[in-house]
Amino acid sequence: MGIYLDNAATSWPKPKVVYDAVYDFMINNGTSSGRGSYKKAMESDRLIYETRKLIAQFFNFNDPKKVIFTSNITESLNLALNGILENGDHVITSSIEHNAVWRCLKTLERDKGITITKINATKDGFTNPKDVEEAINDKTKLIIFNHASNVLGTISPIRDIGKIARTHNIPFLVDAAQTAGAYPIDIQEDNIDLLAFTGHKSLLGPMGTGGLIVNWDGDIKPLKSGGTGGDSAYEYQPDYYPNRLETGTLNVSGIVGLRESIKFINKETIEKIHDKESKIVEYALNRLEEVKDIEIYGPKDSEKIVGVISFNIKNKRAENVGYELDSKYDIMLRAGLHCSPNAHDLIGTKEIGCIRIGIGYFNEKEDIDKLVAALNEITLQN
Ligand SMILES: Cc1ncc(COP(=O)(O)O)c(C=O)c1O
Repeated sequence: MGIYLDNAATSWPKPKVVYDAVYDFMINNGTSSGRGSYKKAMESDRLIYETRKLIAQFFNFNDPKKVIFTSNITESLNLALNGILENGDHVITSSIEHNAVWRCLKTLERDKGITITKINATKDGFTNPKDVEEAINDKTKLIIFNHASNVLGTISPIRDIGKIARTHNIPFLVDAAQTAGAYPIDIQEDNIDLLAFTGHKSLLGPMGTGGLIVNWDGDIKPLKSGGTGGDSAYEYQPDYYPNRLETGTLNVSGIVGLRESIKFINKETIEKIHDKESKIVEYALNRLEEVKDIEIYGPKDSEKIVGVISFNIKNKRAENVGYELDSKYDIMLRAGLHCSPNAHDLIGTKEIGCIRIGIGYFNEKEDIDKLVAALNEITLQN
C-alpha cells in the first residue's frame, strides 16, 4: 500500500465513514440541493443545512447561513479577496503565503492597483504582530494571514493579529488550509472575521469541498453569478446569505462526505488528533536529525508547527530524493517547490526546492522509521 506522507497536500486515507457516506448518497439519493421540492431533494437540502450547522459549531460560529460552500480554499480566498478589495486599497499579509493568496493579491495589484505590505517572517516563519500594527494605514482594507505555513509548518499568532485588526476595525481573513481539523480554531476567541478552509486536508473530507465563513457585516461582492434555486425571476444575484456568495449546483456528495469527516473529528476530539500528530512530529524531528547531511527548515519544535516538515539533503536534488523514495521504497511525499515562492525565498530554496513530509492522523511512528531508513540508504549512495 505504500507509506503516505503527503497529508499537507491532501489527507489520505479518509475515515471509512466518509467513503460510505459519499457512496450511499450517490447510490441512494443523488439529487441537487435547493432546487427541487420532492422528498429526495428535500433530504439533500437537509444534509446541506446540517453540514453548514456542523461546520459553524466546529469553529464556534453561530450563523450557519454565513457558512459558504466552495470547491476548495483557493476559491474561498479568491472570493474574499476579489469580493472585498477595490482600486487603491491596501492589504497586509505575510511573507510566507501560499499562491492561493499571493497570486490573487499580485493579480489585484496589477489589475486594480491595490498595494500590498508583506510582513517579513523570520527564517523560521514567525511573524511579529507589532509589525502588522505598524503597517496599517488609512487605506488598509484587509489583513490576510495563513494560520500555518505549508512549507515550514509554523503556526501564526492569529489571535493577536486578529485583536489588532479588531482594534483598527479592519477585517481579518485567515487561510486555515493547514490547520482546520488538526488544530483548534475558534472564530470568536481568535478574532477571525473571515475564515477560509478546505475540506480535503486535515478536515479529512473529500476533494472538491471547502468554504468561507463570514463573521463580518461588510460587503463581499459575489465571485460568480448564476442559479441559486430560488428567486429565479430576479435578474441579479440575491443579496441574502448564503445565496449571495454561493451559486451553481453544490457538490452535495462531497459535502455529505465532509459532514461525516467532521463528525468523525468531533468524536475523536481535535485535542486527541492534535496530540497524536504532535507526538509524531516530535518523533520525526528527532529521527530526521539522524540522517547524514540533512538540513531541516522551520522551528523544529512540535509545539510551534503543524504536521509539516521540510528539509533537504546536501548535494542531492529534492526531486531526485522524492523520486527514489517513491520508486524504490514506496514512500509518497512532496519534493520541489510547494506553491509558496515567498516561503522558499525565505529559507533559500527557491532554486532547489525542498522535500516536505505532511503528517496526518493516520500516520504512525513506524512510517517515520521507514522514511529515515530509506533516507539513510539514499545518503550512503555516492
Ligand atoms: C496554506 C495553504 N493555502 C491554500 C492552499 C490551497 O488549497 P486547495 O488546493 O485546497 O485550494 C493550500 C494547499 O496546499 C495551503 O497549504
